[in-house]
Amino acid sequence: GGVITIDPGYKNTGSCESGITFLDGEKGILRYRGYSIEELAEKADFLEVAYLLIFGELPTKEQHDKFHADIKKQSVVDDDVRKIVDAFPKSAHPMGVLSSLTSALTAFNPSSVNVDSEEDMYNSVVKILGKFPVLVAWTLRKKHGLPLDYGDNNLGYVENVLKMMFKQPNQEYVQNKVIVDALDKLLILHADHEQNCSTSTVRIVGSSHAGLFASLSAGISALWGPLHGGANQAVLEMLEAIKEDGGDTKKYMAKAKDKNDSFRLMGFGHRVYKNFDPRAKIIKTSADEVLGDLGVEDPILDIAKGLEKEALEDSYFVDRKLYPNVDFYSGIIYRAMGIPTDMFTVMFALGRLPGWIAQWREMRLRKEPIGRPRQLYIGETHRSFVPMSKR
Ligand code: CMC
Repeated sequence: GGVITIDPGYKNTGSCESGITFLDGEKGILRYRGYSIEELAEKADFLEVAYLLIFGELPTKEQHDKFHADIKKQSVVDDDVRKIVDAFPKSAHPMGVLSSLTSALTAFNPSSVNVDSEEDMYNSVVKILGKFPVLVAWTLRKKHGLPLDYGDNNLGYVENVLKMMFKQPNQEYVQNKVIVDALDKLLILHADHEQNCSTSTVRIVGSSHAGLFASLSAGISALWGPLHGGANQAVLEMLEAIKEDGGDTKKYMAKAKDKNDSFRLMGFGHRVYKNFDPRAKIIKTSADEVLGDLGVEDPILDIAKGLEKEALEDSYFVDRKLYPNVDFYSGIIYRAMGIPTDMFTVMFALGRLPGWIAQWREMRLRKEPIGRPRQLYIGETHRSFVPMSKR
């Protein structure tokens, strides 16, 4: 082979050509299939965006209705999966549960590995879009010790997830339009982000021709980490800690700047955005609106705003072009909706699902080769074996 260049973290290495998401980190632009994220968040619904990402075009009314109907037909998970949910301790981290359950679906849907035709692929896509919200809801209900149940196919996709999550036994469930709209918008903003860590994972696992569900399960594990999707949970825990500490933001700013301290300002910085994260801008405005509409006053929102203001005026953050990212304000909205902190990254996964699917599908349709990076070997050169008695 030729010369191997090492690029830790793939900071300057492209892994594929893609026609799904355009991102200009210098200008803070994010577009799905050419449509700006601002416009989609304002005007589209999550399922429309899912269709757009996966199939490349905004759906007509007929296409949208058929897509939704096909997803609804698949919205039942084999009842045996409940036994797997049962086996987890209540204290299990929801991301570990979600990744396991997604992997478990391969056992109940063996045909989901078929990609011989567009139809095969379509079937896997609607299957996972139908079943994933059930897994998300069951993960939360397990945590809360609530009975596991299926949704209501008369509801919209996002309404249905919320009902499955929060319906209490023997109580009528009332939808809150503010929460439905806010979640819809958040899911759209999380739906794709080109070749990030979890998406690259989905593509690389899928490149070995492992099936869609197995690839997604790996992507969920990648998303879990606090440097990636897990940051939304870490942000809220950080804001809570600051509040407990009497609101001393300066102390945490100092810790984040201290190179001998591993603490980072969670929800700040991004590999690609070096100006601002357009998603964070929308989510910040949305946090104000949603908390206002729900009549929630959360001192944590003020701490977050204070921290942002300080960071944007601090030369450490300014010089390194560190700005609030998508995870900085999202948790405040999830919390106002009644979603527990350790479920935040699960909500991110629910939003990212269409993006992962779209990227996996593109990778398979383009018949990309197996992902297999090279290395530069820096270990010992050739050595002779030493018997144990002589070591
Ligand atoms: N707090 C303090 N310093 C930081 C931070 C931060 N949040 N982020 C980066 N830096 C510093 C870093 O120490 C380095 O300084 P120096 O040049 O003096 O060594 C410089 O900024 C560049 O950082 P890097 O780690 O080389 O940048 P990266 O592109 O490898 O990492 C990142 C990007 C997002 C992992 C990182 O900014 C980070 O850890 N942020 C906190 C976690 C977070 O919010 N993650 C969510 C990312 S966005 C959505 C998602 O993926 O889910």
